[in-house]
Amino acid sequence: MERINELTLLTGSAHPQLAKDVAIHLDKHLADAVTERFPDGECNIKVNEDIRGRDVFVIQPTCPPVNDNWVELMLLLDTLKRSSAGRITAVVPYFGYARKDRKDEGRVPISAKVVANTLVGAGADRIVTLDMHAAQIQGFFDIPVDHLYSRPVLMQAIYGMGIQSPVVVTPDVGGTKMARAYAKRLHADLAIVDKRRLSGSETVVEHVIGDVEGRNCVIVDDMISTGGSITQAATVLRSAGAKSVVIAVSHAVLCGPAIQRLTEAPVDRILVTDSVPQNMAELPSNLGVCSVAPLIAQAIRNIHLSESVSSLFQ
Ligand code: R5P
Repeated sequence: MERINELTLLTGSAHPQLAKDVAIHLDKHLADAVTERFPDGECNIKVNEDIRGRDVFVIQPTCPPVNDNWVELMLLLDTLKRSSAGRITAVVPYFGYARKDRKDEGRVPISAKVVANTLVGAGADRIVTLDMHAAQIQGFFDIPVDHLYSRPVLMQAIYGMGIQSPVVVTPDVGGTKMARAYAKRLHADLAIVDKRRLSGSETVVEHVIGDVEGRNCVIVDDMISTGGSITQAATVLRSAGAKSVVIAVSHAVLCGPAIQRLTEAPVDRILVTDSVPQNMAELPSNLGVCSVAPLIAQAIRNIHLSESVSSLFQ
């Protein structure tokens, strides 16, 4: 009981609602801090509480505006380091730049590595994140990374729908491992939509691998960005005779035409988490948000008490 009192929770300005929900689950308050902008756009940060020696968890997804949220996180980490926090954990429920994790053509950065370097350089002692686009990004850090999965949270919602004899579908070959994990737990078949990316915002679907005719399909993916991949996959599944289509995705980044595409897509239900903040009034009426706050709160509690985090992966 004494150790839990040494825990301090802090939020950046990216997603204060998620941080508040995490705090409620931990029965803690959020530390008093200023995270504002100066008139020229620079971050104005100040922590108004003594945090010397404390086990501080700063919650900040690096979602759009990605660069602002990333810089603010670095400045928060620097603030904590210079305030003599005992241990600093960056809780990054959505890890931006994760899709740039390798040099797949000449003269491009490995942006995910740069993000990792800057978080550590700014003061992070450990990282908690959720469904990173590529799990191997953990290797870009030489500090502990607790990589959580939203699968148990989304699975609960899928179970609740009572879908008969589902087929789990990945909208691209790269997502097969994730889809297989869902399929195993749902005792479902697996299908793959063979997608080719033409550019950052354009994809083309080549084939569906697997039997989807007359079946209830559950498309799983790590993120919806412009919504192109997932809505094309849904359309192709319907053309191949799918009876129903449900989408379950960890990170609803929803940029550009995403909301319009999701609204017009031939899908019965869209399930996402609250790793990224949403304006509920703008979202399609068939979209449900499942909170990862209890999962993140439990991970923070376990880390603070030096207890296993992998028990949360079930
Ligand atoms: C791709 O590898 C990812 O898993 C997502 O499918 C992709 O990033 C989603 O992007 P968009 O929504 O723009 O198609």
